[in-house]
Amino acid sequence: MNSKTALVAANWKMYKTVSEALRFVEDLQAQTGPCEDREVVIAPPFTALSAVAGVLRQKGFALAAQNCHWEEQGAFTGEVSVGMLREVGCGYVVVGHSERRQLFGETDDMIRNKVAAVFRHGLIPIVCMGETLPQREAGQTFEVVVRHLTRAVEGISSDQAGQVVIAYEPVWAIGTGKTASPAQAQEVHGFLRERYAALFDKTIANQIRMVYGGSVKTDNVDALMAQPDIDGLLVGGASLDVASFRRIIQYQ
Ligand code: PGA
Repeated sequence: MNSKTALVAANWKMYKTVSEALRFVEDLQAQTGPCEDREVVIAPPFTALSAVAGVLRQKGFALAAQNCHWEEQGAFTGEVSVGMLREVGCGYVVVGHSERRQLFGETDDMIRNKVAAVFRHGLIPIVCMGETLPQREAGQTFEVVVRHLTRAVEGISSDQAGQVVIAYEPVWAIGTGKTASPAQAQEVHGFLRERYAALFDKTIANQIRMVYGGSVKTDNVDALMAQPDIDGLLVGGASLDVASFRRIIQYQ
């Protein structure tokens, strides 16, 4: 484990009503108590953000949105701005999740604009990247992730660069039960950190948190977190159940 604070995020996607979200967060905090050496981030659907913000009171817990728009306001039916997310208490925004890229047509340009908007409001982006199975099989993993990385952080300052959270999520491992092996995940994380050092500098690259996502479960969390360049986790399915998510945040 690196000395920086690990970050474990629950990406609930389109699951949980407001009342279900509240029950989960109350139960989780009651069972875990304050988190000293790791940060737990909950990303509920937009509808539950405000309510969850009102009950997130343990030290070490924070709130994230799953998406945002890059404009401040305007005629963008169905969209939510970063200013709106900040006001309800979000500290983080997940940007460029592969489901957004694949199902909703998000491009690298949109993702770069979202990262810039998140920073304009003083929030921190959790920037997702990862290759599909055909891309991995064609030997394009590094090429794809470096493009996702480089395009997403284009134009940010070095101060902002030091705050970014990078989430490596191989698309073939999301929701499939197929996890990247700890060695596969480490290989890409190590590569991304080197590229980040080349884009900014080594100190900044060592300072940022790189989290892994894709079928993280109670039985693989410890091995993943033992890798030197894995500084946290972005958890989908296994974050929906209190007992399972609690075990994940209590990785050893
Ligand atoms: P999963 O999702 O843990 O269900 O694979 C991870 C994610 O999409 O962030």
